[in-house]
Amino acid sequence: MVAKIKKAVIPVAGLGTRMLPATKAIPKELLPVFDRPIIEHVVKEAIAGGVTEIIFVTRSGKEAIENHFDAHYELEHRLERKGKETILGTVKNVVPEGIKIFSVRQSDALGLGHAVLCAKHLLNNEPFAVLLPDVLVLDQESRDNNYSFAQLVKAWDKTGTGQVMVERVQPDAVESYGIADLNGELAEPFKSQPVNGLVEKPSLKDAPSNLAVLGRYVLPSRVLELLESTTPGVGGEIQLTDALDELLKLEGLNALETDAEIHDCGNKQGFLGANLAVGMRDAETKSVIKKLFESNAW
Ligand code: G1P
Repeated sequence: MVAKIKKAVIPVAGLGTRMLPATKAIPKELLPVFDRPIIEHVVKEAIAGGVTEIIFVTRSGKEAIENHFDAHYELEHRLERKGKETILGTVKNVVPEGIKIFSVRQSDALGLGHAVLCAKHLLNNEPFAVLLPDVLVLDQESRDNNYSFAQLVKAWDKTGTGQVMVERVQPDAVESYGIADLNGELAEPFKSQPVNGLVEKPSLKDAPSNLAVLGRYVLPSRVLELLESTTPGVGGEIQLTDALDELLKLEGLNALETDAEIHDCGNKQGFLGANLAVGMRDAETKSVIKKLFESNAW
């Protein structure tokens, strides 16, 4: 029987330099997308996929992320006294009861692969998910929230083979992502297909496709062993992509293409786009945004 995905690693140790000065004193993961921090959207996505243990890989100066998911007794007490039940609900129940939040430190910025390896002792030889909080996966409005990640987990449940979520990106963007080689095969949305190779941030001429790995992974624990012997790759960092390229030769790896809107909140334009996209899903805000765009001011 295929082991269930209970644990998710969410690396949050990045400095957020692309978002400075906004991130000088505030972790980038706590910048709001519409009405809540980006990290809350991502944690909820993990939980919707069946995850019950969240492991933040963090660093000094980013304690506010853990605080966001912890109780804030004074605030809760004051809101309760004032009868502000609705707001109280959003503050109190950031994650449902029974969800456990852990954190582990990454003291050196040695790359995504290294960040994942920092959580090894909490992963207990179980398969796990990795969700990168820069990326907001906004599923089509007609679907349940967080459909794409849940589909990724389902594909694991069916096969026991590691899964990565991919989406087509513009040719000039391939050098910013891990790129999947599907052996010339065209991926169909939500059909999990074998990956032939993975390459981290290739130049356009070396890119095997324009299918980018978007920061959502469901992986067997074997990848941790592989990460232990992965040497620094692109940017001098230990790349998760490189360990996955090894994994696929040993036991296969599948890609699942999503048709969700992907917003890279790690840069200013992507962050703004994410805010507008999520805001447009709220009826009241939608009419305000539409009026602004229709006014002569813009
Ligand atoms: C990381 C991964 C890359 C992936 C990307 C998704 O890169 O290394 O493979 O495609 O996230 O956002 P980073 O954006 O951290 O440089």
